[in-house]
Amino acid sequence: MSQETVKLIYQGQTFELPLVTGTEGEKAFDISQLRRKTGLITLDSGYANTGSCTSSITFMDGERGILRYRGIPVEQLAERSSFVETAYLLIHGHLPSRRELTRFSVLLNDHSLVHEDMRSFYSTFPRFSHPMGILSAMVNALRSFYPELQTIEEEIDMTVTRLVSKVRTMAAMSYKISRGHKVVYPRPDLSYCANFLNMMFDTPVRPYVIDQDMVDALNVFWILHADHEQNCSTSTVRMVGSGRVNLYAAISAGIAALWGPLHGGANQAVIEMLKKIHQGDESIDRIIQRAKDKSDPFRLMGFGHRVYKTFDPRARIMKKVCDRLLEKLRLEDPLMDIARELEARALSDSFFVDHNLYPNVDFYSGIVLRAMGIPTNMFTVMFAIGRLPGWIAQWKESMDDPSWRLARPRQIYVGPPETAYVPMNEREDREPGPIHRPGE
Ligand code: CMC
Repeated sequence: MSQETVKLIYQGQTFELPLVTGTEGEKAFDISQLRRKTGLITLDSGYANTGSCTSSITFMDGERGILRYRGIPVEQLAERSSFVETAYLLIHGHLPSRRELTRFSVLLNDHSLVHEDMRSFYSTFPRFSHPMGILSAMVNALRSFYPELQTIEEEIDMTVTRLVSKVRTMAAMSYKISRGHKVVYPRPDLSYCANFLNMMFDTPVRPYVIDQDMVDALNVFWILHADHEQNCSTSTVRMVGSGRVNLYAAISAGIAALWGPLHGGANQAVIEMLKKIHQGDESIDRIIQRAKDKSDPFRLMGFGHRVYKTFDPRARIMKKVCDRLLEKLRLEDPLMDIARELEARALSDSFFVDHNLYPNVDFYSGIVLRAMGIPTNMFTVMFAIGRLPGWIAQWKESMDDPSWRLARPRQIYVGPPETAYVPMNEREDREPGPIHRPGE
């Protein structure tokens, strides 16, 4: 911690708040003693100016479009690493040696099966349940099937491995069961990504032929999603975890947080928006107009980001992956042409320029997933599998942090002042709303 301080003058008194400087020169002033010393709290809607922790996992610079995991630029990882290696890097803090990577891969293989009794859960969900709701419930249920181990180190090692391995199996299983198809088990001879594609698409009547281009694209897709510092779902994992709940429950909460269309659900929302344009229900002109219209809640999906005020570096890589994959597979996706035109139109419109709105990772990721054959309602599940190592790394870091406390923000109460209880016969007779009965 530097000696520099920030001075706060309140009611004639000066308070000095210590300045904290990060590796890359980012500065924050520490308000942990603020209320005790001044009686004040801070108000920060959406936590846009609040650092909730110090972290050595991921560095983002939204002004310069930089993203690094444990110091390594995401561009280099996308080019040279695999998702499993990147997961190891995030969780353990360093690139694995050959033997460490082999051990991790062996463990992932050994723990890839899901308890057979869990299969019955799938059939009890209503047919059109969203896979994100199912995944969140299933991950939470894992704790009942895999109870706590003896030591904390063993617990963390095993739980982490189980989660990274089983989430992929559970996601593919949910797809197969939703289609009424036979579940395909993981194969020990296949890599993490190839195994997932095989579990998704292999059938007894049409064996799946593994295409290395697809496997490579999936590796990059998952690497790009692997962590993104204190976003909504990651902060949820840290917050839920701060109550010292088990890791499965914290990750289950993270999955639920990711589901929303402003966060991970944007990849599904982008494709739905592009499809509407393709089907003629919307036009590019109208979409742009609606996004600019303050009286319309609509937003251009896949555009804008809380942190990036320039191109999202992940979006640049994703667009390249998309172009390469479509070309190699000789696929012509009309949604890709619409996406390119929509991007060009938005980037030349003063509203988007003035608001620093650029494509984010989700703008092209849906087209990559479509090319792989992933159904639209599974897109956010794909994001969740990718984000899992980041959630785990952040949870682990918070557990190891000696200064970590139960997350418990404060508020400024603006409701009625103290009010006496009014007996029923003295209350105003107000019109109640209608009663909606099931089946009506
Ligand atoms: N379309 C139209 N206007 C937008 C958009 C958009 N996509 N994003 C932001 N704005 C405008 C907004 O109307 C506001 O304008 P003004 O200042 O004139 O009132 C201004 O930009 C700032 O918006 P904000 O809501 O305060 O910004 P935020 O930092 O809270 O929002 C966001 C970030 C990602 C929620 C938002 O950009 C958005 O809704 N984007 C569309 C959804 C999306 O693509 N989400 C995926 C994010 S990347 C995946 C991930 O990591 O989760």
